[in-house]
Amino acid sequence: MRNSFALLAGLFALIVPQFTLTAAAQPHSVDAEGHQWWQHAVFYELYPRSFADSNNDGIGDLNGIASKLDYLKQLRVDAIWISPCYPSPQVDFGYDVSDYENIDPMYGTLKDFDHLAAEAKQHNIRIIMDYVINHTSDQHTWFLDSRSSRTAAHRDWYIWRDGKGPDQPPNNWLSTFGHSAWKFDPKTGQYYYHFFYVEQPDLNWRNPEVEKAMFDVTRWWYKRGVSGFRLDAVDTLFEDPNLTDNPVRPGTNQFGDPEMDNKYNTKLPELHGVLRDLRKVADESNAVLIGETWTNDIAELNRYYGEHNDELQLPMDFMFTTVNKLSPSDFRAQIAAVESASGWPTYVISNHDIIRSYNRYGDGQHNDAIAKLMAGLYLTLRGTPIMYYGEELGMENNDPKRKEDVKDPIGQLGWPKQKGRDGERTPMQWNGSPNAGFSTTKPWLPVPESYKTHNVASESKDPSSVLYFYIHLLALRHSNRALLDGKYIALNENDPNVLSYLRQYRGESVLVVLNMSTSEQKASFDLKSNGVSGTEATTLLATAGGQAKQASLSAITVEPFGVYIGQVSGR
Ligand code: NOJ
Repeated sequence: MRNSFALLAGLFALIVPQFTLTAAAQPHSVDAEGHQWWQHAVFYELYPRSFADSNNDGIGDLNGIASKLDYLKQLRVDAIWISPCYPSPQVDFGYDVSDYENIDPMYGTLKDFDHLAAEAKQHNIRIIMDYVINHTSDQHTWFLDSRSSRTAAHRDWYIWRDGKGPDQPPNNWLSTFGHSAWKFDPKTGQYYYHFFYVEQPDLNWRNPEVEKAMFDVTRWWYKRGVSGFRLDAVDTLFEDPNLTDNPVRPGTNQFGDPEMDNKYNTKLPELHGVLRDLRKVADESNAVLIGETWTNDIAELNRYYGEHNDELQLPMDFMFTTVNKLSPSDFRAQIAAVESASGWPTYVISNHDIIRSYNRYGDGQHNDAIAKLMAGLYLTLRGTPIMYYGEELGMENNDPKRKEDVKDPIGQLGWPKQKGRDGERTPMQWNGSPNAGFSTTKPWLPVPESYKTHNVASESKDPSSVLYFYIHLLALRHSNRALLDGKYIALNENDPNVLSYLRQYRGESVLVVLNMSTSEQKASFDLKSNGVSGTEATTLLATAGGQAKQASLSAITVEPFGVYIGQVSGR
């Protein structure tokens, strides 16, 4: 491992000597245009169970993460978002929190967290925690008290209602993880509401005591040095107090339940008041709030930025992840839509709930080239990218082959239509040794066979690897003002094969050309109307081997699924 880190470090020194001068190196800096640290940062989501296992029990841990900070720094990651590592019965692998102010023993201790935070600071890497705001575990002391009697101190911290009649839940709302969202609790003879698993009762955000306790959780972590939160499932924070039935649509979903619109239990306007108040607390610590925001259109996305940009700084644009084919016109339309939004764009192509981009876009033949192409896209757009661990290697999904191997409960419930999310959560591939160097013990999920070629150690020695491309691109992104701050200008908008755009910042223009087709393409550009006087581009980064230093704007040749990025002179 050491060798591959040393190799990566050497590579950086060679290609980007200026890379020590970053915005992240000056924690509170705001540039002349007023950009905040989170606008220039590259975020990296890591799933703690699967990143690095320091004690070889088959499950990743905080000390494992700390041991990989050199790698993350060399990759040019500025902030890591750690999926939940709090104490939890692990029904939903950490998204069922039983104590918000501690670390689950399987991941380490608070002392280990403090060590990680101190080390991360040394590396100029910020830590973002996952804030599971909508629900707790049914083992949280709040819920244990809540369910103990109708008059318990915490009774109203959750949503309890009488059924409509014997064996009839209060209304027709469904859990997104299958079947009714109501669970009858015989002890007190009422139903409680859970948008997710039965073991994840929803908090009652209409109760000011809940709000205070949950706000205090964020303050507690800010004091421990975290730089923000990724807000889990914000859409689901509030429910209609009248419990109006949701409208039912024809057909059934993967769990065999009726299709319905979650009109009365998601995206209620009340949630914006909570977000505004959370933002005020975050602002006291120069922190960022990232949202898991499943929006249907830009109007909905804008609501999450807030009318006065006073809610979430980075609501994730999941609409981008629904462009599930290499279609320049579909991407153009989605980018244009996000460009028209009222806040700073946030791009994501994979996460722990979505099939890895390597499989979603890959055609089975050119997957590595396509992985680079996708990097060339979302790391050069105007906005903040959130990477998912292993994306930089071309890690693939490794779905369970048999129902009995499935760990994620939704995979067990919905098999075979729904295989669950195990496939996108497999261990990080560090090297070619057994278990991909993640652990000496059998890991909690198996690595795919492709780990033998797609791992940090071998890819860092291979200039044609996906990792090499990410390293170059991330270095370029950090050092090029046009890529960091430049406006986005769509080019050649009728080209069915090639997605091209300019990023323009004052006197600098960068041209990005992405060939989304299986054949070589020659793209030609007339950029006079964009204030570009020159007729040539100086190559900054290109996927084709031996790409010329200069390329004529009248014919930029890009190989199948290739990427070309060049500097052009002008505004
Ligand atoms: C969204 C998280 O990303 C997902 O993994 C989890 O199962 C649900 N929220 C419930 O917390």
